[in-house]
Amino acid sequence: MKYAEISGWGSYAPPMIMSNEDISRVVDTNDEWIYSRSGIKRRHYSHVSTGKMAWLASERALSSGGFDAKALDLVILGSTSPEEYCPNTASWIKNELGAVKAAAFDLNSACTSWFYGLNVASDMIKAGSIKSALVIGAERISLAMDWNKRESCVLFGDGAGAVLLTASDKDTGLKTAFMSCVPDTRECLHLPSWGLSPLHFTNDIFVSLNFEGQEVFKNAVKGMSDAIDNVLSKEDIQVADIDLFIPHQANMRIIQALAKRLNFPMEKVIVRIDEYANTSAASIPLAMVDALNDKRIKPGMNILVATFGAGLTCGAGIIKWGDRVESISESSKSIPDYDGSIFDLMKDSFNHYGINASHLLTP
Ligand code: UT7
Repeated sequence: MKYAEISGWGSYAPPMIMSNEDISRVVDTNDEWIYSRSGIKRRHYSHVSTGKMAWLASERALSSGGFDAKALDLVILGSTSPEEYCPNTASWIKNELGAVKAAAFDLNSACTSWFYGLNVASDMIKAGSIKSALVIGAERISLAMDWNKRESCVLFGDGAGAVLLTASDKDTGLKTAFMSCVPDTRECLHLPSWGLSPLHFTNDIFVSLNFEGQEVFKNAVKGMSDAIDNVLSKEDIQVADIDLFIPHQANMRIIQALAKRLNFPMEKVIVRIDEYANTSAASIPLAMVDALNDKRIKPGMNILVATFGAGLTCGAGIIKWGDRVESISESSKSIPDYDGSIFDLMKDSFNHYGINASHLLTP
């Protein structure tokens, strides 16, 4: 068995939605600016932790693959916003799933975390050290929105997506991958107080994202293009052999610039940024699950993925889809909805940044 098939998939998009119109009520911005600069219409914000969202996406992925959690070998949580660093959040997810024998670790390379995890777990399966793994991308990045930075606070959303990988004799799964980290670009996308640096240590759960949009934009297009060139030549295939492209969903203009550079038709690109905004590590698996639900993924397709994130980390890969595009079964697990409005949900964060939203709260 030398292949790692994607044999199950699941996602969780939190039900609370902050539309561009909603956000314009608390930040000096508007739908026209946000949509024309980024392609974003709305974003989902979570009322539960990253781990909880990741757990439900994982339950759905296991059911989709008809796989018993007790047989699972590994759980990787790709995330920049896990609720706990020690013990890691993946171990909590593993316990909730009842994955008794699974190893568990968190992996943080920012928005590329899910893809880096997919590469790690696929290689472990191909090498024969494990036979199955769950690779999750999940973020509660809404906690890192600084409402005084309108250039960045409108761009992100929360969510989770997961895939189940199982060992297979069939020639499927992540065929080839490339990971990179662009030199000297660490400062252009940065959460300065998210960690134990003695200079910045704080007990606050709210962290403020530092962001140089145009620097990120430029390096993202170059980094992903280089990674794509690398995997196409390693796999010895042409752009015309790619059936579908699922890029990281950070900015519609970045996606269009990439497609143009590749000479790739936009009809073959999965775009979900209008619905979810940038969900960091969750963006590709969320888009992939939607593409499956929308029947845009067909058996045997060659699927290109490309991603970038803080670091700046980059990556690209070519996935050969297997025979099955339908789930075997559906999980009955759920998360209770939030009882309140989107402004009620975000009120502590607004207060923290001195934004007066009291007139918008549910009486
Ligand atoms: O996963 C990695 C995450 N990061 C990214 O993906 C970021 C990549 N970069 C981008 O997406 C884009 O650079 C942005 C969407 C962040 C910004 O687009 P831009 O075309 O580079 O705009 P800009 O920064 O040049 O700003 C243009 C104007 C400025 O006004 P002036 O100085 O021209 O009068 C800003 O003050 O737009 C203003 N502006 C806004 N106006 C309304 C900035 N943010 C907003 C806003 N609403 N939210």
